[in-house]
Amino acid sequence: MTTQAESDRTATATTDASWFRGLGLGVFIHWGHASTRGWELSWQMTGGVLRQEPALEPVGCNEYFENAATFDPQHFDPTAWAELAWRAGARYLVFTTKHHDGFAMFDTGLSDYSVTKHAPFGRDVTREVVDAFRARGFRIGLYLSIVDWHHPDYPRYTDETITKPYVVGSYPRATPAKWDRYRAFMLGQLGELLTAYGDIDIVWLDGEFEHTEEEWRFDEIRAFIRERQPRALVNDRCLGHGDFVTPEQQLPMVPPQQPWETCLTMNSSWGHRPQDDTWKSPALLLHTLIEAVSMGGNLLLNVGPTGNGEFPPQAVERLEALAGWLEHNAESVQGVEPGLTLWQFHGPSTRRTRPGGGTRLYLHLVTRPYERVTVRGLSVARVERVSLLADGTDLPWSVQPRLKDIHAGSDDPTGELHIDTRGTVLDPMCTVIAVDLAE
Ligand code: GLC
Repeated sequence: MTTQAESDRTATATTDASWFRGLGLGVFIHWGHASTRGWELSWQMTGGVLRQEPALEPVGCNEYFENAATFDPQHFDPTAWAELAWRAGARYLVFTTKHHDGFAMFDTGLSDYSVTKHAPFGRDVTREVVDAFRARGFRIGLYLSIVDWHHPDYPRYTDETITKPYVVGSYPRATPAKWDRYRAFMLGQLGELLTAYGDIDIVWLDGEFEHTEEEWRFDEIRAFIRERQPRALVNDRCLGHGDFVTPEQQLPMVPPQQPWETCLTMNSSWGHRPQDDTWKSPALLLHTLIEAVSMGGNLLLNVGPTGNGEFPPQAVERLEALAGWLEHNAESVQGVEPGLTLWQFHGPSTRRTRPGGGTRLYLHLVTRPYERVTVRGLSVARVERVSLLADGTDLPWSVQPRLKDIHAGSDDPTGELHIDTRGTVLDPMCTVIAVDLAE
């Protein structure tokens, strides 16, 4: 147990998040026994959430919980997952070690409701996923829901105690004694994840929406993590103690001051749900990644593997499309900083310092240009070259310095860059224009 003095000290310490800024794409993996039935993870038993898409056909709580005994993903191949995600540009992983439904996808000693003890598969999938992704070079994030709809002390969800569809705030309450036991159990499982799986880069908590901040005591949870993994970043669902912000299913309205990522599903479901055909196009997913990076954030893109352990074909198709685009355009979204502001260029842009000095700007055409692309507020005498990033084709351009700078005889005038795009063959996903500026 942490003393109050220790937790005060650790709670105010800050964790180095510089590696997280500009990382670009991450892959979120939502997987559990529900995937064998094409059910959404956990939420299938509540019939979804009131007023929130997608609406789900409710499944009885017991029928849901008992399905764990069928989990046997014979095609599970985490090395193949890691290979594809890496080629698609992902550099960090967040894996659901346990969702709200309480089924541990790791080898826990604190409960029998786990992939190793309660399912025919019997293998510690968290360990295999973490090992494969770490070996490929990924930063490792573990998702853990701090609620547990299966644990008797939580107390367990039944068809009688929960509302279907779920109404936020309407969960069954435990007695104080049960709650203390449950919280110790939750910390115990968190401790297992933080000590038995090597260096963890991200602890991605969820489920903070059930129970009060007084009951959770997030300061203690944060200190508990810091003691075991001092360098790990924790998301903002550890209320009041987050190292980064996690807007869900859309980009933030304005870039947050803190490090941030948007988590996004490829269709509308987190888990594998074959009847959900609301797949976003590859171009749309790419544009969201580009916009996130141009605003200084990351995109945590979700995949819900099938119950048999494979990425569904629609997810593979989208990751392959990203991989194809990155073959020629990766330098515009990996290891870059936000570029221009929107009055300067009407679209997302990024920048990097060139090895020999000066700057390379990347203009992302997420809408089709008519005849020219205008960039305002540039040091126009420094423009050296304007080209298509994908194949190096030079584009015709001219500059127009501000009149007042010309009259003042400035040798470093500010003005407009005009790029003629009439003859340009546009990339069906996103054309990137590189603008090289002298130092
Ligand atoms: C939402 C969903 C949950 C999912 C999470 C990921 O909170 O309810 O199922 O795991 O988003 O951000």
